[in-house]
Amino acid sequence: MKAMILHGGVGKVKNEKRDRVEAGLKRAIEAGYKILCEKNDALVACETAVNVLEDEPVFNAGTGAVLTLDGRCELDAAIVKGSTLEAGAVAGVENIKNPISLARMVMEKTDHVLLIGDGANNFARLMGIPDYNPITEERLEEWRKLKSLLIKGEPIHWKKIQELIKQYPELLHGTVGCVAIDDNGEIVAGTSTGGVFLKLFGRVGDTPILGAGTYATPFGGASCTGIGEGIMRTLLAKTACDFMKMGISAQKTAEACIDLINNTVMTETGIITLDKSGKIGFAHNAENMPVAFVSSLDNEIKIAGFSSE
Ligand code: GLY
Repeated sequence: MKAMILHGGVGKVKNEKRDRVEAGLKRAIEAGYKILCEKNDALVACETAVNVLEDEPVFNAGTGAVLTLDGRCELDAAIVKGSTLEAGAVAGVENIKNPISLARMVMEKTDHVLLIGDGANNFARLMGIPDYNPITEERLEEWRKLKSLLIKGEPIHWKKIQELIKQYPELLHGTVGCVAIDDNGEIVAGTSTGGVFLKLFGRVGDTPILGAGTYATPFGGASCTGIGEGIMRTLLAKTACDFMKMGISAQKTAEACIDLINNTVMTETGIITLDKSGKIGFAHNAENMPVAFVSSLDNEIKIAGFSSE
């Protein structure tokens, strides 16, 4: 059984961006699923799908990711192989095009799991990855507008981010993630993000923290999106994998994870899941969480997760 599910982040999708979000998800799942079918390799398929999402500026990952309070692009990503628990992650990397590929290099070329900041940037250069500026004019414009609102007295401190996000729910939108399974039963989860708009410099979210935003085991995999602090405090992706190990379906797992969030930290969150039988699940507590999924049962790509549905 081959199957794959992607998310394009939780939050509000503005009407004018919906076509780009849908098209990006479609391109990503087509590229990832092609690899899954031709190479039967969930790792390469997951990385490829996330690369396509990172390269599409409408999502908050790679090119066009959101900016920190001081206007920089600090990117996080992680990838996990369920069968062996091999994993790689990077946090706070700058000047890089595809953080998920750097995370894979951490997994395959080092004895470590997580590299951060300058060290991760130096590792990227060592690996021959060229300098790349992921900041787009569109994001800079959004950042300028938000900064000026903040200067006019809007909440600026991180503790107030919840208020800020209630007021501007589109700020959350965009982390990307993928969970895939190949015919060997290998489950791979990957997530890539710029974090949350106007995050404090140096802030790391859930994405590169194994078991928080990204995790996979032989029983299932999960990728999360939303306010990273809540996802870290509930170790949501690991919790999802534990639920699937207990035999709970991927869909019920996703719903139980959102219940857990709603009953504890109450932060905006979304999650995609995939279990060892190739069944997928997704749930969120926000306005939108665009997802795309496909399996070898019918090879039909489905897109869901927009609020008008
Ligand atoms: N979920 C993305 C972040 O909080 O960084």
